[in-house]
Amino acid sequence: MKPEIAAQLEGYQDMLQLAQAAEILGEDFRTEKGAVATYLERLHPARLSLRVSRIRTETPSTKTFRMVPVDGVLPPFQAGQYVSLHVEIDGIRTNRPLSIASPPTQSGYYDLTVKRVPGGLVSNYLLDNLQAGDRLVSSGPDGCFVYNPLLHGNRLVFIAGGSGITPFMSMIRETCDRGLDRQITLIYGNRSEDDVIYHAALTGLAEAHPNFTYVPVIEKPGPGYTGETGFMTGELMERVTGDLSGAMVYLCGPSAMYDFCLGELQARQVLARRIRREMFGPPVHVSQCPGWPADISEDQSFAVSIVGGPVVTARAGTPLLTTFEQAGLAPPSQCRSGECSLCRTRVLKGRVFQPAGVPLRQSDREQGYVHCCVSYPLEDLEVLIEAKG
Ligand SMILES: Cc1cc2nc3c(=O)[nH]c(=O)nc-3n(C[C@H](O)[C@H](O)[C@H](O)COP(=O)(O)OP(=O)(O)OC[C@H]3O[C@@H](n4cnc5c(N)ncnc54)[C@H](O)[C@@H]3O)c2cc1C
Ligand code: FES
Repeated sequence: MKPEIAAQLEGYQDMLQLAQAAEILGEDFRTEKGAVATYLERLHPARLSLRVSRIRTETPSTKTFRMVPVDGVLPPFQAGQYVSLHVEIDGIRTNRPLSIASPPTQSGYYDLTVKRVPGGLVSNYLLDNLQAGDRLVSSGPDGCFVYNPLLHGNRLVFIAGGSGITPFMSMIRETCDRGLDRQITLIYGNRSEDDVIYHAALTGLAEAHPNFTYVPVIEKPGPGYTGETGFMTGELMERVTGDLSGAMVYLCGPSAMYDFCLGELQARQVLARRIRREMFGPPVHVSQCPGWPADISEDQSFAVSIVGGPVVTARAGTPLLTTFEQAGLAPPSQCRSGECSLCRTRVLKGRVFQPAGVPLRQSDREQGYVHCCVSYPLEDLEVLIEAKG
């Protein structure tokens, strides 16, 4: 811009004086060019290089992997967030989200606790193969299953099942470490005493912190067990927490547990806006979701033609993302629960099933976009995977 035109702009002289003063004082802000992007990349990196520094066996089916940065520092996170761990197993490039179980107060590592899923690809691989010293790549921390100080109040009821304890462990540890003004009751359901993850740590925290109450619930206890047993009913929730209506209830665990507990909460008039849920991946049996067509079985298969790629055979009960990965493709993905939008795929021909509640923009819906991590073929398809992994 010509100097005579610039001189007529409002505020130009002030800016010029400020820049000259900064230069005299040795503060040339032009050197800060690009600094914002650099800081953002440090706070929200797309990829992290991690190394396993320690492995701890929690239960017969669960281990905690302590992950440290290969170099540099780990970005901060909010208790309740996850990272998505990338692996390649027998030529299949895939990832799995895992909640960070350590608290944000521990900035040097992320603890990732993995529970074995029978028949599951990645949990079995990690539990059987990962050794101290191994390196892995993950996403940066993400997810919105976090405490909101403006909206959630200070009476919190955490309802966890199995590996669904992990985001709560981070939140509980943070509350205890920082002495935060929150009343937390954790109701933690498991099939047997052997399945309870972090039992000793939770018991110790409850003994040391009067604002944290820990209630393990065992569905099928062994002889002599004296604690709570059976399912996590509304009656039990009310008995151990008092009035539920003023509390913020967080749920995390298998979808069967979620469906049951949600019904119990609704029967006690707990408002939908006072219930928060972490999705722990796609439904195990999608045909049990409301709206699944009765005439299609999960084992039926369809041909999916990928624009610019192969035609693959897709099982109706398997998410399209998994089918693509099994075919050697690696579309971008992160949450594998329909929430982050990274796996957005366009269906050009054919019908897919998407469970109710998957967030999708109206414009995406109109143009045939789906989140392929929670989309299931109901007939032969033609799809366009726009982003490359
Ligand atoms: C935000 C978030 C946080 C999470 N945090 C944790 C955590 O802290 N700890 C933890 O342990 N897990 C966590 N999970 C779950 C985790 O990401 C995985 O879903 C879980 O470990 C299972 O992965 P997998 O690869 O072993 O099983 P998958 O291979 O994905 O299989 C899952 C199920 O599908 C069945 N299945 C697999 N392939 C097929 C097929 N072709 N046909 C039919 N059925 C099939 C399996 O038998 C199994 O029952 C989290 C999930 C989310 C979304
Ligand atoms: S991977 Fe996040 S929406 Fe599909």
